[in-house]
Amino acid sequence: METIQSYIEKNKQRFINELVDLLKIPSISADPAYNQDVLNTADAIKESLEKAGCDKVEICETPGYPIVYGEKIIDPNLPTVLVYGHYDVQPADPIDLWTSPPFEPVIKKTDIHPEGAIFARGACDDKGQMYMHVKALEYMTQTGNLPCNVKFMIEGEEEVGSESLAWFVPRNKEKLANDVILISDTGMIANDIPSITTGLRGLSYVEVEVTGPNRDLHSGLYGGAVANPINVLNKMIASLHDENNHITIPGFYDKVEELSREERDEMAKAPFSLEDYKNALDIDDVYGEAGYTTNERNSIRPTLDVNGIWGGYIGEGAKTVIASKAYAKISMRLVPNQDWEEITELFKKHFESIAPKSVKVKVTPHHGGQGYVTPIDNIGYQAASKAYQETFGVTPIPQRSGGSIPIVALFEQELKSKTILMGFGLNSDAIHSPNEHFGVWNYLKGIETIPYFYQYFTELSK
Ligand code: BES
Ligand code: MN
Ligand code: MN
Repeated sequence: METIQSYIEKNKQRFINELVDLLKIPSISADPAYNQDVLNTADAIKESLEKAGCDKVEICETPGYPIVYGEKIIDPNLPTVLVYGHYDVQPADPIDLWTSPPFEPVIKKTDIHPEGAIFARGACDDKGQMYMHVKALEYMTQTGNLPCNVKFMIEGEEEVGSESLAWFVPRNKEKLANDVILISDTGMIANDIPSITTGLRGLSYVEVEVTGPNRDLHSGLYGGAVANPINVLNKMIASLHDENNHITIPGFYDKVEELSREERDEMAKAPFSLEDYKNALDIDDVYGEAGYTTNERNSIRPTLDVNGIWGGYIGEGAKTVIASKAYAKISMRLVPNQDWEEITELFKKHFESIAPKSVKVKVTPHHGGQGYVTPIDNIGYQAASKAYQETFGVTPIPQRSGGSIPIVALFEQELKSKTILMGFGLNSDAIHSPNEHFGVWNYLKGIETIPYFYQYFTELSK
């Protein structure tokens, strides 16, 4: 029987070439200019699933970008694994900061990836990680090693809030019926310290607009006598945190689950160097909520961050003006039990209440989603843990992540199944940033590990 290791050895150059071809298509879901490229990527995924051995592959139309669905059902009495991933990517800008063009993938060596990493937008998030599952499926079908049923559901709107998937899932419960959901769209601690993601944060994303006078004004003639919306907006934003960096929105923390000392001590055992962390980011100190460690601040605690702020004159030279309007985009990362729609409402009420009478404010909610936690005593987690032990030679560490995949909570609600998050990227892979990359080693390690998950999940299901 052909092992996954020998299959990878024979096919790795082709595996890399196929991913490189996929990365050449700029499937930016946020920008309508790339509409055709996003659609072409869906077609490419469909073709790759057919080639990998799915019996039935469909492009499922939605109100937005299509969902690519594929399946191989070998025996209805065997368990079914549902693989989720996304074929859309983040915008590439700021484009000037890329050392090679974002949609012309190249393999370059880095300190962390001495055997090379593929540099391209989407290399790690999520085309590279999603494609590991396609290649693992190819191995299992081509060599008679598929132990159970498999379904694929790959969407094209993850980076813009998964609206169409939230529409699709409740309408296709039977089609999507499964025993476990498997996703590679997160990270791990390090190549020699594998980890399995057991939690994701929720998200509430809002945009605010502050309006002062009805037109831009001469700052000499009017300055000091009318509210400057930019000054006011900054003051309002600054007041959203107190001196301990707690968020000041009334009721914001009401439902936050406080972890026990034991759980926090357990978390603190994960290897972490604050010095390396600071060095990697070129900062002299970290910053955050009093009473919590860096790893707690970015996983088990909720946060509020301004993601963008604009208004007034930002062109060449100077212009003495008081702008009529100022804007900001603000995101709140939430933890399990916090309800994103409730938090959005609390934010809106509070933000409106702190505005001085001299301005008008408008709060527009964007998207959001609930957080997620998975216990480690289920067979999905155990199957994943055993799979990593086979290929990494060590037991992976359970770790809560700060990122969000809002659709995971919806899967649990609608499909009643747990999601296992087997991520093979590293924090240093620069997802969403210029020079995103994915280690070739990580890509092949993922392909190697996934078939063991299927094997152990099938065995433990008996
Ligand atoms: N794959 C990421 C989420 C992620 C990355 C989770 C690393 C854990 C570790 C996903 O594509 C993403 O970027 N999610 C967005 C939310 C979405 C609603 C735009 C996020 O976390 O900002
Ligand atoms: Mn992703
Ligand atoms: Mn992303």
